[in-house]
Amino acid sequence: MNKSIAIDGPSGAGKSSVAVEAARRLGGHYLDTGAMYRAMGLYMLEQGANLEDTAQMDALSENANVDVKYDADGNQLTFLNGEDVTDRLRTPEVSMAASAVSKGAAVRQKLVRRQKELANEMFLVCDGRDIGTCVITDAALKVYLNATPEERARRRFNEMEDKSMGFEAVLKDINLRDYNDTHRAISPLRKAEDAVEIDTTHLSLEQVVGEVMRLYLERVQ
Ligand code: DC
Repeated sequence: MNKSIAIDGPSGAGKSSVAVEAARRLGGHYLDTGAMYRAMGLYMLEQGANLEDTAQMDALSENANVDVKYDADGNQLTFLNGEDVTDRLRTPEVSMAASAVSKGAAVRQKLVRRQKELANEMFLVCDGRDIGTCVITDAALKVYLNATPEERARRRFNEMEDKSMGFEAVLKDINLRDYNDTHRAISPLRKAEDAVEIDTTHLSLEQVVGEVMRLYLERVQ
């Protein structure tokens, strides 16, 4: 059994906030696998790839090396071909490119291989869409975080500095991403059979982290 924790779920369910805090309390490393797909998406934008051509992106990914390192405070830094691109991954363009690139079999194989290596090297609290089903299939604890689309859109909207896009557009984006993530042919987002589902719609961050800690300690003790 791998001691790590696998956290999956749709966009905006609170995965990263929960994973960061659980990693801090348990002395592990937080691995944000979405950032790796984002770095791959950034590479495709830089190469001028056609985001609708999955085969082309799979071929281009041969020359893209995505890796992560941790700074002295334990924060993840994401590298693309040796360059630290951490601060360039949170734009709407990169989000779209990450979603497109994540459909590719070669892209997924390459990133999953690295994620598995990291899970063997260190204790991770790892979040994504396929962690419990493909990456750390023998994780000590698998959690599937969920919340209603409206609540997830509300959280995203509240976090936005520039709200000119409007709530309805954010909700539409969440619904589109849910559709793409769950209908992808390879490794679609789904709850692993042995994952514990937590509906975070009416829960605070502290309540969700508390529940994850309780479940984890129950399993490893
Ligand atoms: O979690 P995020 O929004 O940063 O993820 C960016 C994209 O990458 C998202 O469209 C889903 C995809 N992704 C994936 O397919 N598998 C993962 N393990 C993590 C993210």
